[in-house]
Amino acid sequence: MSGGRITGVGSALPDNVVTNHDLAKTLDTSHEWILERTGISERRIGGTTGGLGLEAANIAIERSGIDPSEVQLVLFSTITSDQLFPATANMIQDAIGAEKAGAVDLNAACSGFVYALISGFGHIALGADKVLVVGAETLSRVVDWEDRNIAILFGDGGGAAVLEATDGPSSLLGWDLGSKGSVGHILQCDSIESKVSMDGKEVFRQAVVAMSASATSALEMAGLTIDDVDIIIPHQANIRIIEAAFRRLGAPIEKAVTNLDRTGNTSSASIPLAMDEALEQGRINDGDIVLLTGFGAGMSSASAVLRWG
Ligand code: ACO
Repeated sequence: MSGGRITGVGSALPDNVVTNHDLAKTLDTSHEWILERTGISERRIGGTTGGLGLEAANIAIERSGIDPSEVQLVLFSTITSDQLFPATANMIQDAIGAEKAGAVDLNAACSGFVYALISGFGHIALGADKVLVVGAETLSRVVDWEDRNIAILFGDGGGAAVLEATDGPSSLLGWDLGSKGSVGHILQCDSIESKVSMDGKEVFRQAVVAMSASATSALEMAGLTIDDVDIIIPHQANIRIIEAAFRRLGAPIEKAVTNLDRTGNTSSASIPLAMDEALEQGRINDGDIVLLTGFGAGMSSASAVLRWG
């Protein structure tokens, strides 16, 4: 059985910046309230889910140096696919020229990219050589822009990673996937024509528990403790959720990668966007232990412990 490793990461954001001040022009809210309660200052709005995913995928492919025709599987995580079907993954498969690849969309809400990444490692273990994992969203399409509880939180974006088989040991040291369907109603969207509904306080409470429990399970599988982790890339929903989960985990907040101040919550795109930024900033180096941990509607959760490089 082969091990896998990430050989290229990319991300994409729409050009259009919507600040808290912009939202305060039409909503009964303020920049100060949004920043204090969420950590978000601005978000990017626009594009299509497929377009943002493709842009991120092309960058990840270029950085990995692979020939895209060699990709054997495209895993595309989204809750805002451009069409109900065919899957957005089919469009990506065609656009990158991966003629021999399989392609499928996954929906695990904001945990989706980590779900897809872990699945990608699974396919590598089954014999795949090159897998493209993409997470992209246009949540702006399912946000009620007149609802101040929702409109302040979300943004659009895309992120991607190329996974390749390696002769050496797998980068994936431990993983955890979770679901708590009994509380699915606290965050939901009935169809692509309807809008997100949310019990914000309950999502907050469940998220802190889910994220810290999932990260702990993945670390246990890896045979590591939180002190062994060099850098943590959490789902970017709310800085207070990240801070509370880190307190439960006993992790110093300095180990967190955060970019939600500029992106808002981009669901499936949030973790690869933050990962790409951390790589650009030189915050992730070969040999580092990297913890990815996400939660989302469902209430889904997913964590992966990686040895980078
Ligand atoms: N601007 C100004 N005031 C507001 C706003 C706003 N945008 N929204 C609510 N308020 C008011 C409320 O009406 C309330 O007023 P009151 O005290 O007079 O009743 C007061 O501010 C406090 O409201 P709370 O709802 O208690 O505020 P809270 O601190 O819980 O923050 C928030 C709300 C930001 C939504 C928070 O609960 C949260 O982040 N929850 C998690 C949301 C989330 O992460 N969702 C997605 C996760 S999963 C996924 O990513 C798909």
